Amino acid sequence: MKVLVVGGGGREHALVWKIAQSPLVEKVYCAPGNPGTAQLAENVAIPVDQLDKLLAFALENGIALTVVGPEQPLSLGIVDLFEQHGLKVFGPSQKAAFIEGSKAFSKDLMQKYNVPTAAYGVFTDQGEAEAFINRTGAPIVVKADGLAAGKGVIIAQTCEEAIAAVRDMLSGNAFGSAGSRVVIEEFLTGEEASFLVITDGKNVIPLASAQDHKAIFDGDKGPNTGGMGAYSPAPVVTPVIHEIAMQAVIRKTVDGMAAEGRPYRGVLYAGLMVKDGQVKTLEFNARFGDPECQPLLMRMKSDIVPVLMAVADGDLGTLSIEWHDKASVCVVMAAEGYPGEIRKGDVISGLEQAAALEDVYVFHAGTASKDNNCITNGGRVLGVTALGTSVREAIEKAYRAVAAITWPGVQYRKDIGHKAIGRI
Ligand code: AMP
Ligand code: GLY
Repeated sequence: MKVLVVGGGGREHALVWKIAQSPLVEKVYCAPGNPGTAQLAENVAIPVDQLDKLLAFALENGIALTVVGPEQPLSLGIVDLFEQHGLKVFGPSQKAAFIEGSKAFSKDLMQKYNVPTAAYGVFTDQGEAEAFINRTGAPIVVKADGLAAGKGVIIAQTCEEAIAAVRDMLSGNAFGSAGSRVVIEEFLTGEEASFLVITDGKNVIPLASAQDHKAIFDGDKGPNTGGMGAYSPAPVVTPVIHEIAMQAVIRKTVDGMAAEGRPYRGVLYAGLMVKDGQVKTLEFNARFGDPECQPLLMRMKSDIVPVLMAVADGDLGTLSIEWHDKASVCVVMAAEGYPGEIRKGDVISGLEQAAALEDVYVFHAGTASKDNNCITNGGRVLGVTALGTSVREAIEKAYRAVAAITWPGVQYRKDIGHKAIGRI
C-alpha cells in the first residue's frame, strides 16, 4: 500500500523511517517532508495546513493510509475531511483534537472525569485573573488557552509576573487569539514523564515510557522549547506509576472523551508530573511527541502499520506492540538563537560520519538542501538517536554521533538521559 505522512519535522522523519520498514508498504510520501524523509520517501510540496491540497493528493495517488504528525492539521479537521471522502487516516477528529487545542477544555474534562491535575481557573477577565493569582500566590503557571507552538506556558515566579503574563495574553499581544482566554494553575513540582498510548476510542495500547527535556539548557535551566532531547524507557515510570497513569489518567480520559461525544482515536499523549508515587496530568497532546517519537520508534519491534491501520479502521482488536529491550536516546541539535530568533542557512557537516556509526540514526527536522549541502533551516535541526543495551550506552553512542556533526552556532544539551542514570 501507499502511505502519506503529513508533517516535516523529526517526528515525521521517524514515522517515515518506521513505516517504510513495513512489508505492507510499497511507497511512502511525506508532505512536506524534509531532506531526511526524502531519503526514504517521496516528498510532496504541500504545507500541513493546506487540507484541500492534501486531500486531492491522497485521492489522486491512491493513498491507502494517511498518518498525521503535527497538531495543526488535526485541529483544522484533516481527519474529518479525509474520512468524509472515504480515506483511511490515523489521528483524532477535530472534536477529539480539541483536547490539545484548548487547555481550558482539557482542564474542564479532567475535572469532570476526576483525572488528577493541578488546581486551576479559566479566565477572560483581567480583574478576576488577578484576584485568583493573589489568592493562590506564586510560583504560579499561566497558560494561553489555544495552540501556541509549545510556547504558551509561563511559569511565573512572582504574582506580578503572572499578572503581566495574563495581561499580555488577554490583550492579544502574546499568542494572538490563542491567548484570549487563559488557564491559571497551581505550580507542581516533581519529575515529568511523557506517557503515550494508541487508542481506537475503546481499546488502549500503551507505548513504552519516555521522558522529554523541555528546557534549552543543561540542568533544565532556561526557557522551554519544543523539546531538546528524549529517551526511552523512563525509569520514573515504574510499574506502579504505569498502572496509575493507565487507570487514573488514560482510561478515564478515553472514556470521558467518548461520553462527551468526542471519541478519541489516535495517539493520546499525557504529559505527567510524578511525585512521591503520585501522578498529576500537566497536559494532553493529540499526537506523537517530538522528539519522544524518535527514541520510541527506534525501540519499537513490531510493525507499526497494522496498528495505525486498525485505529484508522476504528478497531484495534487484540493487537499489541512489542519493544526492543534496548534503551534509546535522542539528542536534539538546535540552531543558534533557538528557542528565540534563529539563524538559518549554515552548512551542516559530519552527517555521513554520524550515520556510519552503529545503532545510530540521525533524524532531520529543520534542515534544507542547497547546492548539494544540507543546511540549517529551523530551530530544532536534527534528532541524533541511538540504541544501546543500557541508557548509559545509548547516551554514549548518541553523543559520539553528535560529536561528529557540527555547524556554526550549533547548540545542544549535554545531559540528555542523565535523570535515568540517576535512578538506576
Ligand atoms: P504544557 O504545554 O501544559 O505541558 O506545559 C509545558 C511545560 O510547562 C510542561 O512540560 C512543564 O514543564 C511546565 N508546566 C506546565 N504546567 C505546569 C504546572 N502546573 N506546574 C509546573 N510546571 C508546569
Ligand atoms: N516534546 C513535547 C511535545 O511534543 O509536545
